[in-house]
Amino acid sequence: MTSFTSFTQRINRRLALQILLPLLSIFLLMAIIGGTAINASVEISLREQLVERAHIAADSAQFAVESANTLGTMQRFVSALAAEDEFRSVTVMAGNPLRIVASSQMNEVNKPLSAFKNSPKAEILKLSYELRQTPHHRFQDNQFLYGSSVLILGVSENGLPLGAGAVVLEMKPQHYRSAKRFVSSTLILVMLTILAVILVCTLYLLQRLILTPQKALLQTLDRRKNNEKILCPVKGENEISAISQSLNELFLATDQVDELKTQFVSTVSHELRTPLTSIRGALGLVLGAFAQTLDPKIKELLATADRNAEQLARLINDLLDLEKMASGKMTFTMEDSNLCQLAREAITSIEPYAEKHGIKLHFNAQNIQQFAEVDKTRILQVLFNLLSNAIKFSADGQSVILSLQENPQYHQFSVKDFGRGIPEEFRAKMFQRFAQADSTDAREKGGTGLGLNIVQMIVQAHGGKVEFFSETGKGTEFFIKLPKHLPAALTAAGEKS
Ligand SMILES: Nc1ncnc2c1ncn2[C@@H]1O[C@H](COP(=O)(O)OP(=O)(O)OP(=O)(O)O)[C@@H](O)[C@H]1O
Ligand SMILES: [Mg+2]
Repeated sequence: MTSFTSFTQRINRRLALQILLPLLSIFLLMAIIGGTAINASVEISLREQLVERAHIAADSAQFAVESANTLGTMQRFVSALAAEDEFRSVTVMAGNPLRIVASSQMNEVNKPLSAFKNSPKAEILKLSYELRQTPHHRFQDNQFLYGSSVLILGVSENGLPLGAGAVVLEMKPQHYRSAKRFVSSTLILVMLTILAVILVCTLYLLQRLILTPQKALLQTLDRRKNNEKILCPVKGENEISAISQSLNELFLATDQVDELKTQFVSTVSHELRTPLTSIRGALGLVLGAFAQTLDPKIKELLATADRNAEQLARLINDLLDLEKMASGKMTFTMEDSNLCQLAREAITSIEPYAEKHGIKLHFNAQNIQQFAEVDKTRILQVLFNLLSNAIKFSADGQSVILSLQENPQYHQFSVKDFGRGIPEEFRAKMFQRFAQADSTDAREKGGTGLGLNIVQMIVQAHGGKVEFFSETGKGTEFFIKLPKHLPAALTAAGEKS
């Protein structure tokens, strides 16, 4: 599941990149085109505003110039006009030959127009003078010039009337520039807001259409792995729903097969158990009551039959246990139990088996008053299974040690042997049903490969876990960790049963 999760995370990242990158490039392209267009139209409208303001200013300049009747007064009017915030310079031209008659830049006064050769100001002055009435303007390198013709009623220093002339206003570009800056920053702000909205919407859609259904699917797969018989949620019509639907069909089919198999195992086991009980009873009776009178050969044959009947009974019980646990029908009677006492009981019941294999059993307990809420019979079954494995896979004369310890979180049983160890390649499937490291074990050592699976199920039902450490050729140690504080769900289940 972990690798499936990381696989889907990789897909999500790639998907996000595949959606976001083209989206961002489209957005950037649109931002550049749209920004340039908006900027151009804003520039045009700002320039129009500037022309409008210059036009009004030119009217008042004309009035000022016309109403002055001496050059001195005209110069004062021009200087006063130029002192206004929006003008950088004001220039008036008239006379014959044409010359500057008043200017806010005093060094220009009295200079002929020819002295300003090639200057934009002279060009506008000339155009305004020659074409009369039509105002002329020019934007050039942050400079804005506006010229209009004027009729000057005043007189020159030598008393001659000046007649037709032209006035040129040079506007300060600051206002225009700050307006442009304002528009650009507003534009950037608007673009960023749109980008943020697009990103949020994309992520929301990604979350809603892909991530959330995908998470629900993964959770379902996770729960199915823990044997919960649930189906994947199917919402709407998209790829994930289609996958969920197909998986559901598969799950329903396997659930059905599982159910049939469980029923089959259960029926066969029950049917086998009844006659087997009477066979074992009869054999026990014959071997007990007529032991003295029986021919030794017949006695040996009957003992073999009894051993095999017992092994068969154990297999049937294991199968029934597994079936019950898998279908959730197994009930656990949780009660406060002395774990040290349980361990001793396990040792006592396995002792004959150990003796038969020439194995010495040892028991260590850190605390003999160690109590826990467990199902005694089932924990005994766990210890019995682990001890029987340890004995079975040890060599004659070796020892097996059962220990009981505790720490603040859990109680721990450990079963240690010095036998052949578990081959590395087998460790991953050790807890699977019918798994045995060596195919000859079933025949030579007995057993069906169900013991560890049952151990794991019982321990998990107690909220605990099974761990092990093994070195090939040196031995194995199994650890059963039972939590001191049972999870709430288990406590409730225990109370019910
Ligand atoms: N202590 C151990 N030392 C070496 N191998 C072990 C040990 N415990 C388990 N194994 C290996 O794990 C396999 C599975 O063990 P498990 O108890 O499930 O089955 P089994 O003992 O073969 O049969 P069953 O327990 O059903 O009678 C064993 O067959 C053996 O190969
Ligand atoms: Mg076993």
